[in-house]
Amino acid sequence: MEKIKTKLIAIDENYLDMDKIREAGQILKEGGLVAFPTETVYGLGGDALNPQSSGKIYAAKGRPSDNPLIVHISNMKALEKIVTKIPEAGRKLADAFWPGPLTMIFMKSDVVPKETTGGLDTVAVRMPSHKTALALIDAAGGYIAAPSANISGKPSPTLAKYVAEDMDGRIEMIIDGDVGIGLESTIVDLTDGTPTILRPGYITLEMLEKVLGEVNVDKTILDGNSKQAPKAPGMKYRHYAPKGDLTILDGEQVAVRDEINRLTKEQQQKGEKVGIIGTEENMPSYEADSVKSVGSRGDEDSIAKTLYRILREFDDEDITVIYSEGFSTVGMGQAIMNRLLKAAGHKIIYVS
Ligand code: TXA
Ligand code: MG
Repeated sequence: MEKIKTKLIAIDENYLDMDKIREAGQILKEGGLVAFPTETVYGLGGDALNPQSSGKIYAAKGRPSDNPLIVHISNMKALEKIVTKIPEAGRKLADAFWPGPLTMIFMKSDVVPKETTGGLDTVAVRMPSHKTALALIDAAGGYIAAPSANISGKPSPTLAKYVAEDMDGRIEMIIDGDVGIGLESTIVDLTDGTPTILRPGYITLEMLEKVLGEVNVDKTILDGNSKQAPKAPGMKYRHYAPKGDLTILDGEQVAVRDEINRLTKEQQQKGEKVGIIGTEENMPSYEADSVKSVGSRGDEDSIAKTLYRILREFDDEDITVIYSEGFSTVGMGQAIMNRLLKAAGHKIIYVS
């Protein structure tokens, strides 16, 4: 791939520098790529209605081109142009959760190129709440296709330095800013009967049920053995993976702690460099080459926000084996556990 000079700029979400936004918007309009912060993770943006831009996104990420992109919009009017129909459920969810960390799948209209949707007749759409993202969408002409701004397979970046690590030389610009949640948006499919969660996130099953009544959950979300293919093509690939070999230990807290410490010693004796991902409460009892707290067990927001950063830090530290505590799978815990299971290639040990 031809090396591009990547410009790094910073934009404060609370004092938008409109000259910088316009400069970034112009790059997108001309078919270039700009990484930008959202309230979930950094996105790697290109003009969603320009097939060449989508092609460049796949190349920059090293992503299989059958894995569709999410189209980011800034207002409801923009939605009408890219879908054939907005089902009642879509209007209700937009009212309740847009702008915000929710992606909905609709039947696409002809203006959306197949390059953007990985060949599908459906399109994933999200209206983010991050002010920099919203301003950039407007400056770019209204439609930004943006997957997470990582090389395919790596954890999604939550800090600009990790975007730069993956994307320097591959894209025209990186906008530094704060991301909030730390895990990607919830994805809900509205094209096939009962609304179905394809990827769990900050907007939980319980929150969606409150608005819609019945909501299904794709079976492949937490089950690594499911024979079914996930409906979100991206969910079938190995993902969020650190370089180290990650295993999750789940079960009774004291037993988990003891087993993590035992396995750590065993691996260290074999010459491995071991990292532990644990909750704040358990920090004093761990010993390893690198021990990191994801936050308090009850505080799912902090766990979500910290998880990907820790996985990246272990890469920086050349950790070769990683053990992580497991987390409950209700509420946001379902999203946390889903990402952790994927990062671990579904390697989980139950202890009691
Ligand atoms: O929070 C997010 O959603 C971030 C930020 C940047 O907005 N974006 C993001 O995009 O996570 P990406 O490309 O990393 O993940 C998109 C997921 C993939 O698993 C993809 O297969 C699925 O959405 N997807 C996209 N379009 C789809 C469609 N038409 N039908 C089913 N799944 C779709
Ligand atoms: Mg991604």
